[in-house]
Amino acid sequence: IDIKTLRGVTGGVTTIDPGYKNTGSCESAITFLDGEKGILRYRGYAIEDLAEKADFLEVAYLLIFGELPNKEQLDKFHTDIKKHSVVDDDVKKILDAFPKSAHPMGVLSSLTSALTAFNPSSVNVDSEEDMYNAIVRILGKFPVLVAWAMRKKLGLPLDYGDSSLGYVENVLKMMFKQPNEDYKINPIVVDALDKLLILHADHEQNCSTSTVRIVGSSHAGLFASLSAGISALWGPLHGGANQAVLEMLEAIKEDGGDTKKFMGKAKDKEDPFRLMGFGHRVYKNFDPRAKIIKKSADEVLEDLGVEDPILGIAKGLEQEALNDDYFVKRKLYPNVDFYSGIIYKAMGIPVEMFTVMFALGRLPGWIAQWREMRLKKEPIGRPRQVYVGENLRDFKTIDNR
Ligand code: ACO
Repeated sequence: IDIKTLRGVTGGVTTIDPGYKNTGSCESAITFLDGEKGILRYRGYAIEDLAEKADFLEVAYLLIFGELPNKEQLDKFHTDIKKHSVVDDDVKKILDAFPKSAHPMGVLSSLTSALTAFNPSSVNVDSEEDMYNAIVRILGKFPVLVAWAMRKKLGLPLDYGDSSLGYVENVLKMMFKQPNEDYKINPIVVDALDKLLILHADHEQNCSTSTVRIVGSSHAGLFASLSAGISALWGPLHGGANQAVLEMLEAIKEDGGDTKKFMGKAKDKEDPFRLMGFGHRVYKNFDPRAKIIKKSADEVLEDLGVEDPILGIAKGLEQEALNDDYFVKRKLYPNVDFYSGIIYKAMGIPVEMFTVMFALGRLPGWIAQWREMRLKKEPIGRPRQVYVGENLRDFKTIDNR
């Protein structure tokens, strides 16, 4: 039954589904997710295989264009991205205007939107070629903005990319290169970041992706749609959870490390405290990404020789939650962001940058979903409501109120 017929059958009946818990907003061929079985696949490929065997750029190509690239396709894709990785000098002036205290997610969202002004051809994308050009532009420029947002926070002079490096290596170099020092590539860090970005690359119709699709459905440009997605990701119930997890673990450490006390707070319905990094709208048995990243966290910390007491606190919380009726009954398990912050911290990335790293990973997913929506010529997203306000009222002039 098509939607027009359905509308006729239901006589315009509107369903109420707060949080869209049971509402599908689109058909999509990008990501398959089974929350009960803990399955996640991009374009039919298991996330476990992709995290182990592919690199982030291959996964980006797969998500956006539907197939794994051969070597020639990947080389061309990377070359096109590198060709468009220069960010206009005037964007730096906008960056300069932000206070150092600004949250890097706000900076990233603003600068991504601002890029539209410097790349007006990215707005009216009527052909696949136009879309491709907008896509390689943003994939080239976004890592520069990410790195600049971090360097601004740390008070470091801005650094430029190195086109001889791989995509992820180049991001790390742009973020970490110190003045008057060569940047040394650490393959363990590159591998861990590659994995983290792949695990975050898409997750079907989550809050930020739905935002990108709905903003894009009005035919706003790609960069404006992505900027809205970044804002949606910022919140602590979504991408901001990775920052919130680390802040929570640090707070537990400062408080003396009593995990039981915080478990009690999380279960107390009078207390707004939630165990950050636990629970997921869709995964109700385990988050397959958390399984992969947990292993990676142990390896990275060992390889980098980092001994961090917050890892012990994290493991303690996880064990207690696994054996706690409240968490078991509600199917609350650690999600991917319970561990990602621990790895980012070990890499030397400031806490406020964690959600920016999530955005870097999610970028290809947002792009793929936007492209799918535009190619399918989906209608403008416009949910209905059930009005529960006042009936018609007589207007009273200000002196009579
Ligand atoms: N700590 C304590 N209790 C929790 C938690 C938690 N982290 N998460 C859910 N609950 C409880 C709720 O209080 C509710 O209890 P009730 O049935 O007694 O009222 C029940 O579990 C169901 O929770 P909802 O909020 O209705 O579940 P929903 O699917 O709407 O929310 C969400 C999912 C937002 C992820 C939630 O579990 C949460 O806030 N988690 C912490 C934040 C977090 O880690 N977010 C990252 C999500 S993953 C990502 O974006 C990559």
